[in-house]
Amino acid sequence: MTAFTLRDGAMHAEDVPLATIAQEVGTPVYVYSRRMLEERATAFRTAVAGLGAPLVAFAVKANPNLAVLRVLAAQGLGADVVSGGELRRALAAGVPPASIIFSGVGKTSAELGEAMAAGIGQLNIESVEEAEEVSALAQVAGTRVPCALRVNPDVDAGTHDKITTGRADSKFGVLLRHAPQAYAQLAALPGLHVRGLAVHIGSQLTGLEPLEHAFARVGTLLAALRDAGHTITHVDLGGGLGVPYRPGDTVPSLAAYAAMVARVTQGWNVQLLFEPGRIIAAEAGVLLTRVIRVKRGLAHPFLVVDAGMNDLARPALYGAWHAFEAVQPTGGRMRANIVGPICESGDTFATERDTDALRSGDLAVFRTAGAYGATMASSYNSRGFVPEVLVDGDRYAVVAQRIAPDTIMNAECVPDWLPEAARG
Ligand code: LLP
Repeated sequence: MTAFTLRDGAMHAEDVPLATIAQEVGTPVYVYSRRMLEERATAFRTAVAGLGAPLVAFAVKANPNLAVLRVLAAQGLGADVVSGGELRRALAAGVPPASIIFSGVGKTSAELGEAMAAGIGQLNIESVEEAEEVSALAQVAGTRVPCALRVNPDVDAGTHDKITTGRADSKFGVLLRHAPQAYAQLAALPGLHVRGLAVHIGSQLTGLEPLEHAFARVGTLLAALRDAGHTITHVDLGGGLGVPYRPGDTVPSLAAYAAMVARVTQGWNVQLLFEPGRIIAAEAGVLLTRVIRVKRGLAHPFLVVDAGMNDLARPALYGAWHAFEAVQPTGGRMRANIVGPICESGDTFATERDTDALRSGDLAVFRTAGAYGATMASSYNSRGFVPEVLVDGDRYAVVAQRIAPDTIMNAECVPDWLPEAARG
């Protein structure tokens, strides 16, 4: 159930009117619901609970806000991190190091060192080259790092090109046909404790078939590796489950996902790990924005809102569709192009969208913005970074301050050897 609903004609986040947040914190602002985050976390954990004692590690990239991570950690979720920054966030939010997985194709030696010092649960190794570096670092540190080899199953996830990761030509993981040799090389490295495999084929998957296909290939590899004498105790099945963005979108249920996983992994006899991101956070957040003005257009008016592609990049980057709704709908409707203030035509959230009638000054939300929203913001056009708010029942807190454009400017400096501006 969504926490963003109309009550007495005005949209609330749980029990807090969004108009109150807009007035007190300003717009644009991301608003998250604690209840929904908890519901999603519990739903995922419950769905996979029958599959042994799996580790569910939230993909921090989807929403790295400290308060959000704290909510999820309190629900027993671990963290899947892909940088030193994400690692420090997970630790700061109280995620036990043993429940942290470090993924990513370009971990630096500094990041690897940090991960080892923290004693994280598992490093997902993406290449033999990386493994050799990890082993050397681990030997210097006098430890052995628990690792999994990420494989590339050569499966097309059927999602947007920019978020598919499991095709043979992708930069992620080791090709299946190279995997037996790579695994043997990893197993021979003294600084590693290689314990299994990892796979992640892409994000916003709206069908289970590509996942099933990929997992089945991992199963075949697993058997071959065991035949070759390797001990495999862990398999990380990644994330990727899609959420409905538009009315009518269909996505697999968590129960169907878990049943598929149970079927494919039967007899594997390993501890499973999951890295869900979007499915946990997307629907638990909205981007609250105010209409700056309504501008006459060719066929339809432009609704110019105060959020831009720098605040919510998904429509500009992937052509993503985010539902747009008035905070105080009047019942009237309009057809409009919804655009931001950024000086590029790509700063378009929707074209010819049938939407609530809105006027200058009115508030509206982009839904399903809790994942890959604030975290992908930039300061393009010298705009600041949007604040984030967490709602809990009838209270709320600002969980990320707005970063003003001047704060960003103040981090820059002009060397004194540059000439002063010419005075006219
Ligand atoms: N594990 C790994 C190794 C990943 O690369 C990702 C996402 C996940 C887990 C989490 O996937 P999820 O459950 O959220 O689908 N910015 C894009 C999405 C990029 C996803 C990158 N990797 C978007 O806004 O749609």
